[in-house]
Amino acid sequence: MHEINLACIVGARPNFMKMAPLLRAFESYPNVNPVLIHTGQHYDANLSDVFFTELGMKRPDISLEVGSGKHGVQTARILERMEQTLEEGTADGQPYDRVVVVGDVNSTMAATLAAVKLGIPVAHVEAGLRSFDRTMPEEINRIVTDSLSDMLLVSESAGIENLRREGHPDDHLHLVGNVMIDTLQRLLPQARERNTLREHNLEPGQYGVVTLHRPANVDTPEVLARLLDVLVETSDRLKLVIPLHPRTKQRIEDFGLAGKLSDAPGIVVLPPLGYLDFLALTSQSLLVVTDSGGLQEESTVLGIPCLTMRPNTERPATVDEGSSTLIGSDAEKLARHIEQILSGDYPRGVVPDLWDGHAADRIAKILVNQS
Ligand code: UD1
Repeated sequence: MHEINLACIVGARPNFMKMAPLLRAFESYPNVNPVLIHTGQHYDANLSDVFFTELGMKRPDISLEVGSGKHGVQTARILERMEQTLEEGTADGQPYDRVVVVGDVNSTMAATLAAVKLGIPVAHVEAGLRSFDRTMPEEINRIVTDSLSDMLLVSESAGIENLRREGHPDDHLHLVGNVMIDTLQRLLPQARERNTLREHNLEPGQYGVVTLHRPANVDTPEVLARLLDVLVETSDRLKLVIPLHPRTKQRIEDFGLAGKLSDAPGIVVLPPLGYLDFLALTSQSLLVVTDSGGLQEESTVLGIPCLTMRPNTERPATVDEGSSTLIGSDAEKLARHIEQILSGDYPRGVVPDLWDGHAADRIAKILVNQS
């Protein structure tokens, strides 16, 4: 068996729960040598470090420490440092056989570009998703990453159709399921044993969880103010827990909206949470309001109603089969659907095919067979 050297790239929070199951799956193949490279796009302890501990993932072998910046600056820094790192090869000087990227963040796209320019083939995990909304930075990242990758590992069937339409040959496409759900299934029992609900004075099924961080919802004062108003009104009847992403916290302060939340006794504002506390909260909630892609998928598997604050989704299975409804940034529609959930009249949906906790095993097998 020949040695297979893989450069495995992570950068931002949603990457960690996707890479962790892959690293575990590679352990079954003694000839696979995964080198974990962290770009440093996310660097705060609660957006990054806590996940390595909780997901049982090894610390990065290499950290590029690029930090925050405008898209061009951040992407350029990753490109420059990643090119050098990939060129250097593994610790014992072996060249990389392949780069493995996950998701759709700036780190995903920049690492892909650096790799293919060096002639290193790229496997993209979570390939083929399309919102068809090019105002979203993640959509640009998805399009660029997929167009340059030759192993496209797809989480839901719409992804296969999108990639075929874009002209990718069938032998590059693999419907493997959802690696994020591998992590959820593994850690759900552990999450439910935690004290998280008691710590925040919450009863199972009697609160909602809210996460908002996308520019479309949080970067315009009027939009953000209207959304916060609906949340404050709802909190009279249903406690709402809001773990605040640093970007959202900053905007709320910049726009002078902090008082809205602090004056509402039914709203519990928290810092960004680790994986286990967050899963403890979502899995026992009555409803989720979010603009996160990953949380749409997790709610679908948990059967928790999910009101998605986006006009579109690159994850159509969460709407067509799962428990998510698209709300856009429409505050009235949000209020109506919260009402529907409170009255107990909301469909729970079904779990999409292959979201079964074994996606990473399928991916590892394909990677080993084709390297
Ligand atoms: C990034 C991803 C987004 C993902 C999100 C999850 C892109 C284009 N966006 O968005 O797809 O859903 O991560 O969290 O890649 N900041 C900190 N601490 C950190 C990192 C960032 O305070 O550790 C602040 C900085 O002010 C920074 C801002 O958050 O400017 C935005 O960070 P950035 O990584 O550019 O994008 P996210 O909004 O986190």
